[in-house]
Amino acid sequence: MVNINSNNQRLFHPNDEVKQRSDIKDWDLEIEKGKDIEKYWAQEAEQFDWFKKWDSILDESNKPYYKWFDGGQINLAYNAVDRWIETGKRNKIAILYINERGKEVKLTYYELYREVNKVANALLNLGIKKGDSVSMYLPMCPELIISMIACTKIGAVHSTIFSGLSSVAVVERVNDIKSKIIITADGTYRRGKIINLKSVIDEAMLQCPTVQTVVLVNHTGRYNDVADLRGNEIFYDRLIEGETDSCDCEVMESEDPLFILYTSGSTGKPKGVIHTTAGYMVGIATTFKNVFDIHDDDLWWSTGDAGWITGHSYTVYAPLLLGTTTLIYEGAPDFPDPGIWWKIIEKYGVTKFYTAPTAIRHLMRFGKKYSKLYNLDSLKILGSVGEAINFEAWKWMYEEIGKGKTPIMDTWWQTETGMHMISPIPIADLKPGSATKPLPGVQIAIVDEEGKELPPNKKGYLAITKPWPAMFRGLHNDDERFINVYWEEFPGGIYRAGDMAEIDEDGYIWIQGRSDDVLKIAGHRIGATEVESAFNSHPAVNETAVIGKEDPVKGQLIKAFLILNEGYNLDMPFKEGNRFLLREELKRHVRHALGPVAVLGEMVQVDKLPKTKSGKIMRRVLKAQEEGEDLGDISTLESD
Ligand code: PRX
Repeated sequence: MVNINSNNQRLFHPNDEVKQRSDIKDWDLEIEKGKDIEKYWAQEAEQFDWFKKWDSILDESNKPYYKWFDGGQINLAYNAVDRWIETGKRNKIAILYINERGKEVKLTYYELYREVNKVANALLNLGIKKGDSVSMYLPMCPELIISMIACTKIGAVHSTIFSGLSSVAVVERVNDIKSKIIITADGTYRRGKIINLKSVIDEAMLQCPTVQTVVLVNHTGRYNDVADLRGNEIFYDRLIEGETDSCDCEVMESEDPLFILYTSGSTGKPKGVIHTTAGYMVGIATTFKNVFDIHDDDLWWSTGDAGWITGHSYTVYAPLLLGTTTLIYEGAPDFPDPGIWWKIIEKYGVTKFYTAPTAIRHLMRFGKKYSKLYNLDSLKILGSVGEAINFEAWKWMYEEIGKGKTPIMDTWWQTETGMHMISPIPIADLKPGSATKPLPGVQIAIVDEEGKELPPNKKGYLAITKPWPAMFRGLHNDDERFINVYWEEFPGGIYRAGDMAEIDEDGYIWIQGRSDDVLKIAGHRIGATEVESAFNSHPAVNETAVIGKEDPVKGQLIKAFLILNEGYNLDMPFKEGNRFLLREELKRHVRHALGPVAVLGEMVQVDKLPKTKSGKIMRRVLKAQEEGEDLGDISTLESD
């Protein structure tokens, strides 16, 4: 049902079926309940099996180094897998893996348990112990999930690297955490082809001195013989052969690190975001249950890859912590045709489906033909993540996929927050384009530059005013940046999210993009400086400035303003007799440095770049020009 509120915004009300099914009957009451933050999260923490309960719920004595459930002892793998073995869920499917070649693997909780144990034992035999880090460069396949949980079981810190990233990115990440092991695969399936992952690792390993063992999943069957492997490489299957299928869980302190995941910030180096054990578990499981109203009969599908935070929190860990079946799919959304996702939903009866607006916008381009071919009646709730969802995409998702009966949960959160922060729950009234309100147990404010709360309808900085359990606890090897970027700007332990936002008079929050130089390309975060450094490392380039340029499908693309070295122009062959123009060569160069996530929209050659007196490039000025704002003669800015 739809009507219009006082702001002329369309309000969508949940239907009776959604309301009846929902465990939460009153949204406002639940939010009210969550205002007693410590009590709320402590109650939620009771859902888990603890080796030892916590001494304090939240320790704020050393802001912003907050501690949650300090003194407690717990293991996430135990709660996500082992504990279900003793229950009726033992033979329930935990992971349903499907790939674009039609292969299907079903792992029950009991099977998952045994596989995890074998890998955990193998890692222990390789000398991995509590606190050691293990890198992974794998496609979305069962071995990735098994390896993550195996690390969690023995207290090793996993660090996944999205399989679309380049060898340069692998080197940077593996060396930062000094991994002794990397688990990878020969390749991954994508649009009918096999993308070679091993060659990326081969190149990267030339520069990763700490790695002693490369574990290779023979995923696409490229390697048939041990003779194909190098001295420090071992097949995954061979590694776990003969390992016993039982393994004790390491007793983890609540604040022991769980994983490190790299993401982009506004300066060059990627940030190693650290998440710890107990608070993370409590935060993701609670929000998953609240936002998607999870029941035992749900079939959950999140398209988030475990190379990113969505995959960690809501494809892998939260569903397993609640004993849900999680579907993982390896393949593109438009291959063999743009109906593949809808075909899977129909075939398996997916009930809750979580994806990114960019994917929806991509599929919208093919019209309604494909979604009409399939029966999508099993769907009960949809979810969106990664960027604000524009009204057209929202409407298409609501009408074509949800057939006008499934609410869309627009979830705002970040790698750093670990869990959903602002999101409706299924019984909420929705305003398309707004992530609605802070979830129970979360406190948000829109503030000015000094950190003072702004009244409704004033655009400001999005801030989180109270600690939350799944919050990141630091940046690996970069404490200064942890403080500078997130905690210093606003006083009193208030977290600066890096987004601009506005709150309307109904308390609904409207996210309005980043306040820093972080781009969002197809939902992926990439720093302007990272892209600029990639350009600058090419011999033809003198200096670069990069901004995000709006794109109807990907949200943003890279627009690069380039000062080239003497004698170069973008439309000349890069080298004498070379068939590639410099323009194409630079595209290839940046892609090699950053991987396919760095999608170039436009390159323009310029003579100078707008700068401050201290020589800092003013991307803001370029952006304003791009958006048609007249700033007059910008050459004067240089002497500002
Ligand atoms: O700008 C916001 C945007 O994505 C950023 C976080 O990116 P990342 O750490 O890669 O995590 C993405 C998946 C959680 C935020 O600072 N963002 C994420 N979700 C939304 C969003 N912007 C608007 N609406 C959302 N629902």
